[in-house]
Amino acid sequence: MKIAMLTSGGDCPGLNAVIRGAVLKGDKTYEDEFVGFLDGWRGAIDDEILPIPRRKVRGLSRLGGTILGSSRANPFHDGGDGVALVRETMERHDIEAIIAIGGDGTLYTANRLFQGGIPVVGVPKTVDNDLDATDYTFGFNTAVEIATESLDRLRITGESHHRCMVAEVMGRSVGWIALHSGMAAGAHVICIPEFPLTIDEICDYVRMTWDRRRAPLVVVAEGFVPKDAPEGFMNYDLDEFGRPRFGGIAQALAPVIEKRLGIETRATVLGHIQRGGEPTGYDRVLATRFGMAVVDLVHRGGMGHMVALRGTEIVDVPLTEAIDNSKRVTRDRWEEARTLFG
Ligand code: F6P
Repeated sequence: MKIAMLTSGGDCPGLNAVIRGAVLKGDKTYEDEFVGFLDGWRGAIDDEILPIPRRKVRGLSRLGGTILGSSRANPFHDGGDGVALVRETMERHDIEAIIAIGGDGTLYTANRLFQGGIPVVGVPKTVDNDLDATDYTFGFNTAVEIATESLDRLRITGESHHRCMVAEVMGRSVGWIALHSGMAAGAHVICIPEFPLTIDEICDYVRMTWDRRRAPLVVVAEGFVPKDAPEGFMNYDLDEFGRPRFGGIAQALAPVIEKRLGIETRATVLGHIQRGGEPTGYDRVLATRFGMAVVDLVHRGGMGHMVALRGTEIVDVPLTEAIDNSKRVTRDRWEEARTLFG
């Protein structure tokens, strides 16, 4: 079978491991031939294709980024007939199925194409871990590891200078990276969008920590907004999804803490280093398993579905499950973490 793969949306450690897992499984079990669409859906629209023979995936699982490139292009943009565009490219190259590797936006597009008759399956990807259809996505573990290491470093310099350190982590509109890295690093306050603290509450935790002669470490998810954010507090650029484009919430919060408590405070935005590097062992294994399982899914005729992790098993679920439900931090997880604050 001739199968095309694409990686779309923000890159994520483990994308290359998915590609390698799929190619090895397809080559060894089904004698499949693989190609990649370059830069996500853009390659499918512009007919830019890269052959992926088995030798091309050697040593790929440890490599960050994606050998196929990524973009946020969408075949339906500007009223385009996405189905016709993709079908044409598939027919030109005798492609029989597409494996779309991406987050909710990519999977939404994949599902639209499937509704229009395109044989497509999905692999969920996001460092934010915000897809409810799967227990974990690859990339999340790597982002948490990087963030944790960075928080450990910030804590050390904070202790040396008797400062409060405020660190902003990724996560889009959910707080999973903040919750996990903050817990791992022993942060004194974690601010997440699901359960917004007030500025007073944040300052109380910082003060409590300071009074114990510790340098307060505050972790803020990029999508967090304090419950009582004063007028003009969020004077930073937001993108179409409401996320700070250049970082913002840490820089907004740090001066408020410094002013209210008289504690010297610094802000750091961890940004894209959280997703730019090599995947952890956990993410390599999960991504490889996803890649292998999605090839089986194609051969089972499971179009319109995607692979997912439930417990330790790889299962498949309709693409619609990934689109409809975002996974937010639960109250239990929040209360558990909050017990440790201060
Ligand atoms: O969804 C993944 C993610 O890394 C978010 O955590 C972050 O808000 C966003 O992508 C950044 O997107 P871009 O790479 O377009 O700046």
